[in-house]
Amino acid sequence: MNLAGNTILITGGASGIGFALAERFLQAGSEVIICGRREEKLQEAKQQYPQLHTRVCDVARASERVALAKWLEQVFPKLNVLINNAGIQRRVPISEIGESWEEHQQEIAINIEAPMHLSALLMPLLKQQQDAYIMNVTSGLAFVPGSFAAIYSATKAAMHSFTMSLRHQLRNTSIKVVEIVPPAVNTDLGGVGLHTFGAPLDEFADAIMQGIANGEQEVGFGSSNQNRKASREEIDRIFQEMNNRF
Ligand SMILES: NC(=O)c1ccc[n+]([C@@H]2O[C@H](COP(=O)([O-])OP(=O)(O)OC[C@H]3O[C@@H](n4cnc5c(N)ncnc54)[C@H](OP(=O)(O)O)[C@@H]3O)[C@@H](O)[C@H]2O)c1
Repeated sequence: MNLAGNTILITGGASGIGFALAERFLQAGSEVIICGRREEKLQEAKQQYPQLHTRVCDVARASERVALAKWLEQVFPKLNVLINNAGIQRRVPISEIGESWEEHQQEIAINIEAPMHLSALLMPLLKQQQDAYIMNVTSGLAFVPGSFAAIYSATKAAMHSFTMSLRHQLRNTSIKVVEIVPPAVNTDLGGVGLHTFGAPLDEFADAIMQGIANGEQEVGFGSSNQNRKASREEIDRIFQEMNNRF
């Protein structure tokens, strides 16, 4: 992929991995639009990079996804890259969910429904561009689940499956489908301090950009490369090693 000259929507682009990718695409010479729920985070990002375009949007809501897609068609008719990055992680044992289902339904809506629906909504626009991309941010936990985040891991496994199918469905179009597979990365995912043990964000983001530039269709880093290439026996071993710690 040529990292310059694109027009890119990054969902959840005001912080963490989304922001790190936004910075790099801007520096490479692309136009970047970021969206998220917290206006103050979007404004902070814009203060740092005034050329960023921002839009408040809760991608868990279907009506806001439709409005976002319509706005993009009108304001950014050259949009050629959708990066489905927004995601949340909850760590609650299933036995404790009880009546608090709504917040877990949010996790499913943000992590699965939003990228599926946004891909469908923006497909007509993306198909008009000579060179277009849908990039889905999944996780090493898509390949080997973390029992401490059972619903989260299941959403990421679903997105891995969806990404493979989407890639095949779009094989004869101008849209290429890329999966970004982070391992644990030091961001605020799940709450401040939960991922400080993870890979340094800049190191991770630089490697991912290199993989994207090289045209890889599944881009991992560190331990997520182990997970995504593991045999069934290795999956069982990694699962035990990881989950015995919790
Ligand atoms: N960090 C890791 O260890 C790790 C590992 C594997 C995969 N990932 C994946 O990487 C992606 C980015 O996560 P991160 O680590 O960068 O965490 P993060 O810093 O918490 O970023 C998540 C972003 O998503 C946005 N977001 C959440 N819910 C949203 C919604 N309903 N509508 C719009 N935006 C929403 C958040 O902004 P608002 O709160 O303002 O909406 C935030 O900017 C996620 O898909 C995550 O699952 C991360």
